[in-house]
Amino acid sequence: MDRYSQPFCVEKKWNQVLEWNFTEPNIKWFSGAQLNITENCLDRHLPERAHVPALIWEPNNPHESFRSLSYQNLFEQVCRFANVLKNNGVKKGDRVCIYMGMIPELSIAALACARIGAIHSIIFGGFSARSISDRVQDAHAEFIITCDGAYRGAKDIPLKKTVDEAIQNLAFVKKVFVYQRTNSPVFMQKGRDVWWSEELKKADAICPAETMNAEDILFILYTSGSTGKPKGVVHTCAGYMVWTHYTFVNVFQYQIGQTYFCTADIGWITGHSYIVYGPLSAGATSLMFEGIPTYPDAGRFWDIVAKHQVHILYTAPTAIRSLMAHGLDFVKDKNLSSLQVLGSVGEPINEEAWHWLYKNIGKEKCPIVDTWWQTETGGIMISNLAGITPQKPSYATLPLPGVQLCLVDENGNEIKEAHVSGNLCIKFPWPGMIRTTYNDHERCRQTYFSTYKNAYFTGDGCLRDEQGFYRITGRVDDVLNVSGHRIGTAEVENAINACKGIIESAVVGYPHEIKGQGIYAYVVCEENHETTELQKNIHASVSEMIGAIAKPDKIQWVKNLPKTRSGKIMRRILRKIAENELSNLGDTSTLLDPAVVDDIIKTKI
Ligand code: PRX
Repeated sequence: MDRYSQPFCVEKKWNQVLEWNFTEPNIKWFSGAQLNITENCLDRHLPERAHVPALIWEPNNPHESFRSLSYQNLFEQVCRFANVLKNNGVKKGDRVCIYMGMIPELSIAALACARIGAIHSIIFGGFSARSISDRVQDAHAEFIITCDGAYRGAKDIPLKKTVDEAIQNLAFVKKVFVYQRTNSPVFMQKGRDVWWSEELKKADAICPAETMNAEDILFILYTSGSTGKPKGVVHTCAGYMVWTHYTFVNVFQYQIGQTYFCTADIGWITGHSYIVYGPLSAGATSLMFEGIPTYPDAGRFWDIVAKHQVHILYTAPTAIRSLMAHGLDFVKDKNLSSLQVLGSVGEPINEEAWHWLYKNIGKEKCPIVDTWWQTETGGIMISNLAGITPQKPSYATLPLPGVQLCLVDENGNEIKEAHVSGNLCIKFPWPGMIRTTYNDHERCRQTYFSTYKNAYFTGDGCLRDEQGFYRITGRVDDVLNVSGHRIGTAEVENAINACKGIIESAVVGYPHEIKGQGIYAYVVCEENHETTELQKNIHASVSEMIGAIAKPDKIQWVKNLPKTRSGKIMRRILRKIAENELSNLGDTSTLLDPAVVDDIIKTKI
């Protein structure tokens, strides 16, 4: 087997590889170059790989037929749908929100936007109407692509209905394209809503790729931060393409002909970079799965591996822990002999999950790549290279060639020694990095480039061992990582505080066996309120304002929150209590009323 060796196709070569400063910040890679990422993901492969499967789609229901789309087929479908977009008024630079289930048409929709230079903003199918509405407004997206519904496990999720609710007051939305997946009845607003299938019949099959400048926006992806409002992370055409390609082929050591299965959802960055753009840029066969790991039973991943002869499996620690908890009965008769490389992403992988995966799935012969990165980095930054560089359980190990990491102490000084902990920063630009936060460059500067001088701050804490290997210890800001989903504590607090009868709340994370982190909410309510009723209301409010993924796992009713004299909530103490580290609460003398802490400990759940 071979490595992929086709050069990229660019319409015009760059005249400057990199211009940058981290103060504004201003980052430009490959200035002067012109290209279209879809020509590199599709057209470029046609002379030699037209009939190779580009996407294999495994449906939620194992009895429904799977679909295999060759590069030729995917190319044709992308071009045709790109013409549908054009026929309906979508132009270069327009923002298009995509809210769909995990079906090939989601990839087709994203690639069709890229084909004509429209900016896609994919919204995870688990988000609520309110979350969609916020994102559509922030991006001022006049176009939305959705489905009637989506299948996930035993559920049939009404996507179009949620979109209708989200945009009921957004008169600027001009068109909603609806793909029929579940054939459930939906409301279609005349003049605004159009059927994907009907529009396709009217569309031409040929669609030349729009010429894009290297730094034109490819997509926006909203992600949670320390404040209440998710921010639109912006990635641009050339740098993102180079970084996802480079990292995909090197980290997984992808060989032509291998089938690669990434279990993420395309609604998150992992799906963007490692189901769609990275693998397709490398002419790979990328398998996408509509369902969930436990449907119809906890053996589903292994059935898929056996059925499609998967060589590379890229998944998340939360999925591994959940399957581990179901026991080995679901693994024992499965033929996993095709597997050659395993990968982990999204959160720290604990040693137990690592060893379970290595032994029971990889049969002690498949290297595991533990890949650390973020929505903002566009692609993998720290990882071992499968079978080439050493692995170490629970360590992402070393930065990829070209990545310049540093650890800093709380005063912003770089810590150079081995065997130290600090905050993880990156000192030098890389092509896949965030360029701005959509419509709010100052927020980008403040969030990532103002904490430490001349460095991008990741928000993660990190340990470096004697060998120089890196181990990510988790977020040091107010961001939670629940089942690999990124959620801001402030977003959850806003949703809780919106409930009638609630005075205030503070949300922190705590270790959770399956989810990695669970959500712990300390809530102060008005007197004489029925807490069971309030609890229900809180869950409903969080589901409505964010989505069910952000519902608190634990709610503790408290009389007061620990605050400093200036009124700041001491989250550090609340975190320790939630983690059950009661002997190690640190200094409580600066609190307005230290007795509050004792009270909280007494009523801890
Ligand atoms: O805390 C780190 C954790 O996930 C965060 C980024 O989340 P998101 O932007 O949603 O992207 C997830 C998929 C790339 C990081 O700040 N994280 C990601 N990968 C790892 C990780 N923590 C430990 N080990 C990893 N391999």
